[in-house]
Amino acid sequence: MTVGALTPCGLLQLRNFVTTSVCNSIEIVTEMATDVIVIGGGVIGLSIARELALDHTVSLIERGRCGQEASSAAAGMLGAQAEAYGDDLFFRTCVESREMFPELAASLLDETGIDVGLDLAGTLLLSFSEADIAARSQRFAWQKAAGFEIEQLSAAEIRREEPFISTDVLGGFYLPKDGQIDNRKLVHALQRSCELRGVKLVEETAVDGLAVENGKVNGVFAGKEKFAADKVVLAAGAWGTEINAGFDLPFIIRPMRGQILQFRTAKQLFKHVIVGPRGYIVPRSDGRVLSGATMDDAGFDASVTNEATAHLIESTAEISPSLGALKVQDSWTGFRPFAPDRMPVFGRVPNAENLLLALGHFRNGILLSPVTAKLIANDLRGIAAVPTEFSPSRFYSAAMGS
Ligand code: FAD
Ligand code: GLY
Repeated sequence: MTVGALTPCGLLQLRNFVTTSVCNSIEIVTEMATDVIVIGGGVIGLSIARELALDHTVSLIERGRCGQEASSAAAGMLGAQAEAYGDDLFFRTCVESREMFPELAASLLDETGIDVGLDLAGTLLLSFSEADIAARSQRFAWQKAAGFEIEQLSAAEIRREEPFISTDVLGGFYLPKDGQIDNRKLVHALQRSCELRGVKLVEETAVDGLAVENGKVNGVFAGKEKFAADKVVLAAGAWGTEINAGFDLPFIIRPMRGQILQFRTAKQLFKHVIVGPRGYIVPRSDGRVLSGATMDDAGFDASVTNEATAHLIESTAEISPSLGALKVQDSWTGFRPFAPDRMPVFGRVPNAENLLLALGHFRNGILLSPVTAKLIANDLRGIAAVPTEFSPSRFYSAAMGS
């Protein structure tokens, strides 16, 4: 027996059949329905699709090739503590996600044979002036009191750990649990795992808008195609609110450009992720060292600017003069997805049934990818709604003045 539903365009939509209809004089081809459509094949969309594929049929629609945007541009820091500002739910969620990486990396290796370069050797925070020391002590003192591992180091201790760090260093902190992952290998492994789990990956296909009927989302439009689904997860990164939702969203996601330089040393000279007062370096095991990153409000302009290059060379040289003196081997930009209150936007939208958002990961999307997949899957499976702090409903309350 076939289950069908009549749509306003006069289309008999049949599950598991491709059908054709004429809507507003455009011929619409409806693809086979899946339980879930994920829009966007970055680290967030891929992580969610991989998780949901355990008990759903899933299609993931990506405008270009999977993982080529912010998720490849990132430095791959797992800086739950290094990038924290206070002991709040966001911080705790970052820590929870960081703790998920050893199991995730092992499971991806097992499934796909891809080693995602998880390195939890710790992160060093450096100070080069009395003002840096005071600012860092103020910013990180609460972590020890809250029971998180953080050690204060003298300049001599830091240079013993990392001999190529500047002799101007005055001291710093060591965060033994923060680390890094090779984010490009991570997205590659997630994509392969999605394929192995039966996710239908539809690349080179841009979603134009959501298909909404009577306040319920039942698919997406891409050109002349409609992809039908029971649920839609919007994970299109910095472009998340550029897609025509068919209803008002009281917030927009904006791109926050980040620029990175890559240096290369003959062998790995640094053991840790190292955060200076004006930038950070992330050493990869093959001798590459990433130096990042700027934060520019420049729309979707993907240029690497002379000004940013000069700034990053200077911030690298402050951390390590010998590294900063090397030739820049490569450089690139990426667009961090930035919500108005800097917080992620997860979960259901009040005025659109069957739609979940996974947007606004800003500086921490690689770090937050496993926990995002868990939170979205728990919500979609009816196990638990995402915490209200992350829910899009916060913007609806603000818009209504409550
Ligand atoms: P993206 O990776 O941008 O993926 C979104 C996808 O949606 C893209 O592939 C895009 O093509 C697709 N898409 C857009 N529109 C459509 C459409 N209409 N139809 C179909 N598909 C569409 N995070 C960390 O945790 N650690 C770091 O060290 C770190 N460093 C960073 C350094 C830089 C320079 C930058 C820019 C970011 C950094 N981040 C870091 C942040 C992190 O990269 C992002 O938060 C994360 O990659 C966001 O993932 P995403 O999947 O939401 O977005
Ligand atoms: N988390 C590092 C960055 O966004 O630059």
